[in-house]
Amino acid sequence: MNHIPTLRTVRELRAALAPSRRNSLSIGLAPTMGALHEGHLSLIRRAREECDTVVVSVFVNPSQFEDRGDLERYPRQEARDTALAAEAGADLVFAPSVQEVYPDGFATQVQVLGLTDRLEGAVRGPEHFRGVTTVVAKLLGMTLPDVAYFGQKDAQQVVVIRRLVADLNLPVRVAVCPTLREGDGLALSSRNVLLDPASRVRARALYRALRAAAARADGGERSVQTLLDSARAELARSEVVPDYLALVAPDTLEPVSELREPALLAVAAHVGGVRLIDNLALQPSHDAAPSPSLPSTAPDTESERIPVCSA
Ligand code: PAJ
Repeated sequence: MNHIPTLRTVRELRAALAPSRRNSLSIGLAPTMGALHEGHLSLIRRAREECDTVVVSVFVNPSQFEDRGDLERYPRQEARDTALAAEAGADLVFAPSVQEVYPDGFATQVQVLGLTDRLEGAVRGPEHFRGVTTVVAKLLGMTLPDVAYFGQKDAQQVVVIRRLVADLNLPVRVAVCPTLREGDGLALSSRNVLLDPASRVRARALYRALRAAAARADGGERSVQTLLDSARAELARSEVVPDYLALVAPDTLEPVSELREPALLAVAAHVGGVRLIDNLALQPSHDAAPSPSLPSTAPDTESERIPVCSA
């Protein structure tokens, strides 16, 4: 088996990366909270393909958990993680202690405004994304990677981190990897191991709901109400009550009023006490049927749209 070092301190990390930096070798970082699965490994494999040196950080970041029980239950399996990271091509694992990341006197918070009020932010509260952006800013500062890898599974996190990187002029490229799923569609997540067998079956409803709306969109449906209703019906069949189910613009995360441009359908729900999230891009179909919520004379294409002025 492939043995790679696990580094605990920023000093060790900097020392280990110094030769790469001296030789202008590219550094890729895949930040994780551990309990690695194929979704995480896909980030590491992509980093391996694109970068000379691959760092995987494993840090269960307390500041992004608004619920103490969730933090305590979060799976931790470091030896297994290191072996999996090595197999996927990582050169080293950075697994700092809470004290190393948040030493006594730590007083800085990094917060992205606006984008973090919606969806996950609205349900989990402002501290969740503040915790994410603070720790990601720190991990980027500690590692100074050329490329940082994130998963589309956490679509809002990607939008928020892109904003953070742009606003703070951080010299890093953000690379986004597609969501990996189980055979039945359930998005891979470290929390899936916490699902009891019955909840594991019910959890399929999230992806089924997203697919149901996507199928309607493919069939020409543009009414947000109808698209959301089709997704809601799938959730209801498995008695899954969403925290939110929303069709939003992929860059601003603002709710869209009609599916005219590609949009993101995002869902979150507790299933058997485990919080799950998922999302899917919906594309407007070119041969769209007229939406019942609009007059039948409504133009179909952007170029035909006539600006409407209201007094
Ligand atoms: P964590 O939930 O461990 O996820 C680490 C990375 O793996 C994230 O970028 C996430 O989007 C990606 N990922 C998770 N499940 C995936 C899947 N099924 N397919 C593809 N990628 C997937 O996200 C975090 O940790 C934390 O918030 C972190 C960024 C590390 C900051 O603490």
